[in-house]
Amino acid sequence: MRIGSAVDGRSLSLDPAYSSLLGAEFNAVTTENAMKWRNLEPLPGVYAWPGADQLIEFAERHGQAVYGHTLVWHSDVPTWVSPDWPAERLRTELRDHVTEVVSRYRGRVWAWDVVNEVLDEDGSLRETLFLRKLGRRYIADAFRWAHAADPGARLFINDYGIEGRTRKADALLKLVKELRREGVPVDGVGFQSHIAWDQPPRDLTGNLRRFADVGVSVAITELDVRVELPTTPEKLERQAAVYRQVLRSCLTVPACVSFTVWGFTDARSWIPGYHRGYGAACLFDGNLAPKPAHQALIDELGRHAGTDRASPTTN
Ligand code: XIL
Repeated sequence: MRIGSAVDGRSLSLDPAYSSLLGAEFNAVTTENAMKWRNLEPLPGVYAWPGADQLIEFAERHGQAVYGHTLVWHSDVPTWVSPDWPAERLRTELRDHVTEVVSRYRGRVWAWDVVNEVLDEDGSLRETLFLRKLGRRYIADAFRWAHAADPGARLFINDYGIEGRTRKADALLKLVKELRREGVPVDGVGFQSHIAWDQPPRDLTGNLRRFADVGVSVAITELDVRVELPTTPEKLERQAAVYRQVLRSCLTVPACVSFTVWGFTDARSWIPGYHRGYGAACLFDGNLAPKPAHQALIDELGRHAGTDRASPTTN
């Protein structure tokens, strides 16, 4: 089972305490931003690889698996990609981007988020530049291009708001079934899992199972549990219970192949910048001291290891 964290590139290069904790606590890593299109190709044809390279080298030195995030995301398109281009130009640029990035890291990235957040809350395909210009086939194309560039990588479709049995989750299940019926190489579904401390998803286990039942892997890809500030010991206990619940669901479903938190320290989390009034979403506090959620995960992993020993045939 891969237990990973998203990694902040600056901290990785500048903060030895951050990197040593990352190396010690996790056996997988995801680039938080370094592999997004805008960062990788700031100008047309000009690639900025060092951030992504650095993380991959770190992971390899520490025996960690690398999860690539993300190839196609409406929210991270370089500014030089023009909405006025003819469709064919956009398609070519997108294809070249996917091909260039996936082939560069061929054999070194075990899984890719090929498309990120392609659905709207109501379950329809999200209105993006890609959908508008290229139609729904851009999704299948992206998977095929990625597969051609690295046939060994596991290819995921990743989204938020699908942890419980929402309309969006229903729509994603339908989309995944359709894509697989058409022979599109979709191997897995990523459940981002950005959760609020007082709103744990309902029936995550059952939901993971119904995806597993269509033959794909599932993964928790971006878990954090944000707390309304100020924190109190009670809130941190409830947060710990949510972390534990999500890990337990993943451990319960054999198709759940990886469990990743979206950053491990409150010092470097995206939450305060994006969710007003919330913070303290991670396993370690701002001084890198473990919080109750960290202990909860250790306990849960220990319990699971105990179960495995008792019945070696499970999983
Ligand atoms: C976020 C990063 O954490 C931020 O640093 C960045 O400014 C914006 O993106 N869903 C995703 C992630 O798939 O890529 C987002 O990451 C968080 C929401």
